[in-house]
Amino acid sequence: MPAFTEHLFVCCNRRAEGHPRGCCDPAGTEALRNAFKTELKKRQLGPLVRANSAGCLDQCELGPVVVIYPQGIWYGNVQVSDVPRIVEETLVQGRILEDLRILPEQLNCRGGAAPASGNPPGNP
Ligand code: FES
Repeated sequence: MPAFTEHLFVCCNRRAEGHPRGCCDPAGTEALRNAFKTELKKRQLGPLVRANSAGCLDQCELGPVVVIYPQGIWYGNVQVSDVPRIVEETLVQGRILEDLRILPEQLNCRGGAAPASGNPPGNP
């Protein structure tokens, strides 16, 4: 079988209500991941493109979070309604959706602000 062309890791982490960092899947339904699976199947992009459920990707404040490899494209505040255009624009056309993109300087900043110290993030 040929290698995968892309892997989407869709955060499906769930935390107790009221947790200060929130979580990407408060309902615990994996609705976002399931929407990607459905869209990939509909577009006949499987099995070379795969949407995997992921645990916390440590970008909780920017969630729901999806990261696409091998490109290393991070998307935040991703809604089920965004799934078709992510598949079409990013996976098929190769374009980054700037309205969803988490910029490199926002990663690992616990809220999107650049770290003052440059210290790595703690554990989720
Ligand atoms: S809960 Fe999704 S990135 Fe942490």
